[in-house]
Amino acid sequence: MIRVEDVRKRFPGAASATLDGVSFTLEKGGLAAILGPSGSGKSTLLRCIMGLERPDAGSIHLGGQAGLVFQSFELFPHLTVLDNCTLAQRLVAGRSRTEAEARARQLLEELGLGHRLQAWPEMLSGGQRQRVAIARALAMDPAVLLYDEPTSALDPSLRREVVETLRRVRSLGMTQLVVTHDVQLARAAETVLVLDHGHLVEQGPPAQVLDAPRHEATRRLLAQAND
Ligand SMILES: Nc1ncnc2c1ncn2[C@@H]1O[C@H](COP(=O)(O)OP(=O)(O)O)[C@@H](O)[C@H]1O
Ligand SMILES: [Mg+2]
Repeated sequence: MIRVEDVRKRFPGAASATLDGVSFTLEKGGLAAILGPSGSGKSTLLRCIMGLERPDAGSIHLGGQAGLVFQSFELFPHLTVLDNCTLAQRLVAGRSRTEAEARARQLLEELGLGHRLQAWPEMLSGGQRQRVAIARALAMDPAVLLYDEPTSALDPSLRREVVETLRRVRSLGMTQLVVTHDVQLARAAETVLVLDHGHLVEQGPPAQVLDAPRHEATRRLLAQAND
């Protein structure tokens, strides 16, 4: 689970706080989407949850490490799919090759890539590369998986595939937090959080936040998405 309590962050010299008292809870195995205009603090919030940025105040509880799936996936081009998913397990987690490969194979199979273990990243589609990046993050047994705009590097036709991937990862019991501009993707979440100027202005199920938005910032985002 993720428990974020009254997190505040103001960068030195900035006129206002980037995160101005953000609080929310996400249950274990849950999937939450964060929507918000550019500059609203979404990536800063993820960086705080990752431990890459230190909040000025507030607390974050995860019960373990967070894993991050980068926007551009950042696969190692000179390593096969399987080796991409074993490197950190061996070098960081200290697992044996056998152990690391068994874990990687299992996850790659669960994500529908069991037939691509020896492929090079450049041979894969964008959606497949993303699934390798997800398997690589899952192999480190994170308490939660964070995604920063997972569809923005993908062709619109692949967005449905991303939704399917998030569902598969959820079926593994993983807690997921997804920053996105994509309203269709947000519909796949149980909870939608809307960040505006460092404030969480709205949170609730998609049927409430997306279909009956209460806050002006949410209405603006939905109007842009429908343009
Ligand atoms: N390391 C940093 N130093 C100074 N300002 C930053 C830093 N990171 C982010 N910001 C500022 O915080 C605000 C929110 O940024 P960000 O979290 O990237 O927003 P989003 O991901 O929602 O587009 C922006 O105004 C940005 O300039
Ligand atoms: Mg961002």
